[in-house]
Amino acid sequence: MPTNTFSLTNNQTGESYKYNILEGTRGPSVLDIRTFFADTGMFTYDPGFTATAACESTITFIDGKKGELRYRGIAIEDLAKHHTYLETCYLLLNKQLPNKEELQNFDLEIRHRAYLHKGLQKLFDAFPDNAHPMATLSAAVTALASFYNEHLDIENEDEYLEMAHRIIAKMPTIAAFSYRHSLGIPFIEPNIDLSFTKNFLTMMRAYPGGKMHLYANGHEEIKDVEVRALDTIFTLHADHEQNASTTVVRGVASTGAHPYMAISSGIAALWGRAHGGANESVIAQLEYIASVDKVEAFIEKAKDPNDDFRLMGFGHRVYKNFDPRASILKSLQDELHDALNLDTELMAIARKIEEIALNDEYFISRKLYPNIDFYTGIILTALQIPKSMFTPIFVIGRTVGWITQWIEFKKDKTSKIARPRQLYRGK
Ligand code: SDX
Repeated sequence: MPTNTFSLTNNQTGESYKYNILEGTRGPSVLDIRTFFADTGMFTYDPGFTATAACESTITFIDGKKGELRYRGIAIEDLAKHHTYLETCYLLLNKQLPNKEELQNFDLEIRHRAYLHKGLQKLFDAFPDNAHPMATLSAAVTALASFYNEHLDIENEDEYLEMAHRIIAKMPTIAAFSYRHSLGIPFIEPNIDLSFTKNFLTMMRAYPGGKMHLYANGHEEIKDVEVRALDTIFTLHADHEQNASTTVVRGVASTGAHPYMAISSGIAALWGRAHGGANESVIAQLEYIASVDKVEAFIEKAKDPNDDFRLMGFGHRVYKNFDPRASILKSLQDELHDALNLDTELMAIARKIEEIALNDEYFISRKLYPNIDFYTGIILTALQIPKSMFTPIFVIGRTVGWITQWIEFKKDKTSKIARPRQLYRGK
């Protein structure tokens, strides 16, 4: 039972109100204002939800001041260094890391579900070649709801894990097919003999029937170092508390719509350049800046209040310190420097931006640090992945987070339809 309370007084009427303070196991306490409108006839006002806790959760914890991120209590540094993305998926869904047998069974379950219904593959033909893979990806996931409509009783909690496994397994296939459609080349079906991440890279790059892949100079196979780098990127993107796209997923969950419609809505929200679309914008911005000696001018533009130009990959609503995922990617960049030939002009421009921005009063005073998107693009570019596929890769990583948050919402018997109010200023 709450032991601590918070009193508020309306100085116009002299009336006082008392509200319970609810304590979490980590992080800030919350003021329980669920009866505030009934008590006072007023709404609270918090556009963008800068100070609003929308739910209780046990999935992911972020400490923005310390630059700390935990999935089910385990630090992201530990997961990124010592565990695979599939182990992280199992952890998020089942609240603990898998033992050897559990991991084998989970891996096999995901491999079996990677295939796409032939009917769904026909959907891609309806899209123009130059369709952005994010548009195709969102549409294909919406279509998935119609292929798996009667397969799912969304009121039956026993079916949630199967529904989750299915969408986690199929997302890389849909993303790879979206990419190959954008090139007008045949799809490469998932290969059940390959690991989750190697299978995705193969579906993206392989020539039909050959060992060589699209960008290969010779017949070399996809390198293990590439698989490990991408697997780490998936892990770092797996979940992130109540971010904008997860809030959309929970909002759609609250109306009782099909979970794959909720995920498709999350994909749409993630595409925005203020959110998951930033990784593609970071590279586009580095390409636009084009040389190290132009960096200072662009930093000045980013600081100009009358210019809506922003430094992509900088700043975060929660992290007012280094984004821990950015720190992990930064050291991964250093580790991969030789193996993946990171010594590029884009890398030099990125380094220069970091060097100037991290010592500039404007960024320091606003606690604007590089976020995950600032570093992802450099590594993905070195993995010869085109920037149009950066946000789809974010989607592949985040799918487990979205579906885990969806399940948590559905299992919370106190959850209600999301229906905020407003401050009306019309006639
Ligand atoms: C992701 O929420 C999550 O957890 C998201 C995410 C996840 O894993 O799900 O972490 C993934 O979305 C990372 C963020 C990727 N987006 C970008 O890199 C785009 C560039 N960043 C900004 O647009 C911005 O920093 C946001 C959207 C990320 C955060 O916006 P906020 O919290 O609403 O901050 P704000 O707009 O109120 O900015 C505060 C001040 C403002 O200046 P003043 O009005 O005080 O003078 O900082 C300035 C802003 O103008 N500012 C920037 C800036 N970001 C903020 N100025 C220049 N360049 C920037 N990038």
